[in-house]
Amino acid sequence: MHLSHSVFSRAVSQALYQKVALMTDRLNVLLIGSGGREHALAYRLKTSPRLGALYVAPGNAGILTLAQKADISESDHDAVIAFCKDKAIDFVIVGPEAPLVDGLVDSLTGAGILTFGPTKEAAQLEGSKGYTKDLCAEFDIPTAAYARFGDCPSALAYLKDHPAPIVVKADGLAAGKGVTVAMSDAEAEAAIRECFDGAFGDAGAEVVIEAFLQGEEASLFALCDGKTALHLASAQDHKPVGEGDTGPNTGGMGAYSPAPVMTDALTEEVMEKIVRPTINGMASRGAPFTGILFVGLMITDKGPELIEYNVRFGDPECQTLMMRLESDLLELLLAAAKGELDGVDAKWSNDVVMNVVLASKGYPGSYEKGTVIEDLSAAEAIEGVTVFHAGTAEKDGKLLATGGRVLNVCARGKTVTEAQSLAYKAVDAVRWDNGFCRRDIGWRAVAREQKA
Ligand code: AMP
Ligand code: GLY
Repeated sequence: MHLSHSVFSRAVSQALYQKVALMTDRLNVLLIGSGGREHALAYRLKTSPRLGALYVAPGNAGILTLAQKADISESDHDAVIAFCKDKAIDFVIVGPEAPLVDGLVDSLTGAGILTFGPTKEAAQLEGSKGYTKDLCAEFDIPTAAYARFGDCPSALAYLKDHPAPIVVKADGLAAGKGVTVAMSDAEAEAAIRECFDGAFGDAGAEVVIEAFLQGEEASLFALCDGKTALHLASAQDHKPVGEGDTGPNTGGMGAYSPAPVMTDALTEEVMEKIVRPTINGMASRGAPFTGILFVGLMITDKGPELIEYNVRFGDPECQTLMMRLESDLLELLLAAAKGELDGVDAKWSNDVVMNVVLASKGYPGSYEKGTVIEDLSAAEAIEGVTVFHAGTAEKDGKLLATGGRVLNVCARGKTVTEAQSLAYKAVDAVRWDNGFCRRDIGWRAVAREQKA
């Protein structure tokens, strides 16, 4: 059958019109989270021509300059669904791990709301270290040798044949604090007892003990749609609170991207030996992984080995990535959520971005809340600098510190050395008596640049 020319061209133009309408339709977005990571996501989402209204739950003082507050608790799934229906939310983006492990994505997608992030089962890649180790064993993914224990005596007995250095990990989510790299048997024994004594609650009811890996750490981020994994970028964070990477671990005191140790060849090796087998393995287990796969690596003499997975962007790493991303974040996350990543690419600036975290004195222990921060605008006025908020709130026109990690001072440069010097210039412009930061973020990369 032949269509007349006019019918044919009408059909074509209608299809084109629908396509254009689809491409220009604006989406109302709800972002879940309140950290520097979510401020950076909001900052990047705001540059998308596809963005309609942006809401955040619960947000912080910085995010609330870009988004409207959604007065709901992320743990009340029915309330989140009701909010989405009420505000005609088209797309939900979940930032932190807790709501992912808690199954928020399952609840929202079950209610017909398109959501970015892994399901509860796929989030086990972060929610249970034992789950990930078993996956690695099943699919031959390089990682440290390990054993899982559900009781203290058998874990202690294992130490007899596996002396220090050895690594003891609470199986579940412990806010980055459930890992002890034990340099002596006594330290390993204390860490095991601490887990089973309930220091991490349910997260420590099971313990993973694994071999100590030596090398340089780096992180790689991949965007996944259940079948396809798109490499995004690399970053390096600094977890210990003290200079020279000493003292207790924190959520992260600073980061930079890219990580110079992650060459193109190494990146491809990680995608081939670690990321793709994971995506394929999860799909074959009936738990396809959609979202951000944050790959924590140790670059050993034998090659890259997996230390851990997280199932979301890192914080403070995300802030550096969002300053380097040149593609439309909203389009990328949408493609992943819809299973349409095949053939999609992301463009990145070649600049280095460094993030220096300003934290409340006492963090990661106890700290005073409600102290006043001044002169933030002086830091923000410096070209190449963006400050993302974490634990902040505004009260009576004043900016208050309400959390442990409070501000993320980010700066770009052509080299790590350049980005570092600009970041600390901006840090020094901020007046906050109760704040502190590490003065050596990026030390390893700076030393490498100075040697070159
Ligand atoms: P995780 O929470 O699993 O990333 O562990 C926190 C930190 O502990 C990592 O960033 C590493 O510095 C260190 N770590 C974890 N596993 C090992 C390992 N098998 N060997 C050496 N260091 C490790
Ligand atoms: N910066 C490490 C994390 O987000 O877990």
